[in-house]
Amino acid sequence: MKVDGRHYRTVWLARDGWSVDIIDQTRLPHAFEIATLRSLEEAATAIRTMMVRGAPLIGATAAYGICLAVRDDPSDATLDRAHSLLAETRPTAINLKWALDDMRTRLRACEPSARRAVAYGRAAEICDADVAGNREIGRHGLEIIGAIAAAKADGAPVNILTHCNAGWLATVDWGTATAPIYRAHDDGIPVHVWVDETRPRNQGASLTAFELGHHGVAHTVVADNVGGHLMQHGQVDLCIVGTDRTTASGDVANKIGTYLKALAAADNNVPFYVALPSPTIDWSVRDGIAEIPIEQRDGAEVASISGRTEDGRIETVQLVPDRTPVANYAFDVTPARLITALITDRGSCPASAEGLAALFPER
Ligand code: MRU
Repeated sequence: MKVDGRHYRTVWLARDGWSVDIIDQTRLPHAFEIATLRSLEEAATAIRTMMVRGAPLIGATAAYGICLAVRDDPSDATLDRAHSLLAETRPTAINLKWALDDMRTRLRACEPSARRAVAYGRAAEICDADVAGNREIGRHGLEIIGAIAAAKADGAPVNILTHCNAGWLATVDWGTATAPIYRAHDDGIPVHVWVDETRPRNQGASLTAFELGHHGVAHTVVADNVGGHLMQHGQVDLCIVGTDRTTASGDVANKIGTYLKALAAADNNVPFYVALPSPTIDWSVRDGIAEIPIEQRDGAEVASISGRTEDGRIETVQLVPDRTPVANYAFDVTPARLITALITDRGSCPASAEGLAALFPER
C-alpha cells in the first residue's frame, strides 16, 4: 500500500541483500521510520516488542529471522535455537509457528552449505504468498460488500466496523480484514469504516486510522465500547475482523474485545465476518476457548498511555493509581456460532468444521 505516494510492503530485504527492513510500528502514527534487522536476536526483539505485529507479518518476519540465523551459522543446532527463540516471542498467532515449522522442515532437508540461499528464497515466497492470499481475500470479501451496497438506497456508504489492525500493516500487504475494504473503495463502492481504538495498545486508533487515511478511505475512530450502541442504531452494516488463530471448527482468536463485538453483532443481526489466510488455521485445535493459548502482556500497557504532546514530543503517562494491580489479556476467542462466515483466500465458508473442510478438502 502507499504511504505519501510511495508503495511499501511491511517487511523487505534491505539494499545489502541480506539484512531485513521493517516499518517500526511502535513509532506510528506520529513517525514513519524504517528499522533494519541484522541478527536473529534483533528479529526476535522486533516481534516481541511489536515493532512488527499482526499474525501474518509476525510469521513473515520470523521467516527472515531464520534467514539471519543461518546466514551466521547454518548448523542444525543454530536452526533449532532460532526456531525456539522466535517461537517464544508471541504465543497466540499460529502463523508464527506455521512459518517457523515450514522454514525448519525445508532447511533440514538440505545440506548446511545450501541453507542460506534456500532460507532467503523461502522467506521471499512466504511474503509473496501472503500478498497473493490477501488479494484473494479482498476479491471474495468484495462480493459481500458489493451485495450490501447494491441493496442500499441512493448510494449511501456501507458502514463497516473493524477491531484492532488487520490491515496491510498486520500483513505483508493489503491486510486481511481491510483487503475487501480497499478493493471496494478502489472499485468506487462508498465505504465508511468504524475503527475501534483497541486499548490497550490502540492498534485501531494508531495503525488502522493511519493506513485508511493514507488510502483515502472514510473512517471514524470510536472508543472500544461504542460498537454496540452503533449497532443498535443501524449504523453498522457489517463487521470484518482478522484473526491470530482459527480452529478446525471455526472458533477465532483475535485481539481482546473481538468477542464482545461479535456478541453485540449477534444481538443486533449485524453480520460478523472474519478474514484470514490459510496459514492462520490451526488444524490441530478444535475448541478455541479451551485450547488456544492467550498471550498476557505487561500490565504497563494498560496502566499507561502514550501519545504526542502539542510540542511534538512522544510521552507516556500513567492512568491508574500508584501500585494498582493490572491484568493485560491480549486476545480472546469468539466461538464459531457467532461468526456469519470466514472469508479466506479460497473463498468464504461457514465458520464450522464442515465449512472449512469443504474449502480445504486436503486437510
Ligand atoms: O497484538 P497484535 O497487534 O499483533 O494483534 C493483531 C490482531 O489481533 C489482528 O487482528 C490479527 O493478528 C490479524 S492480522 C491480519
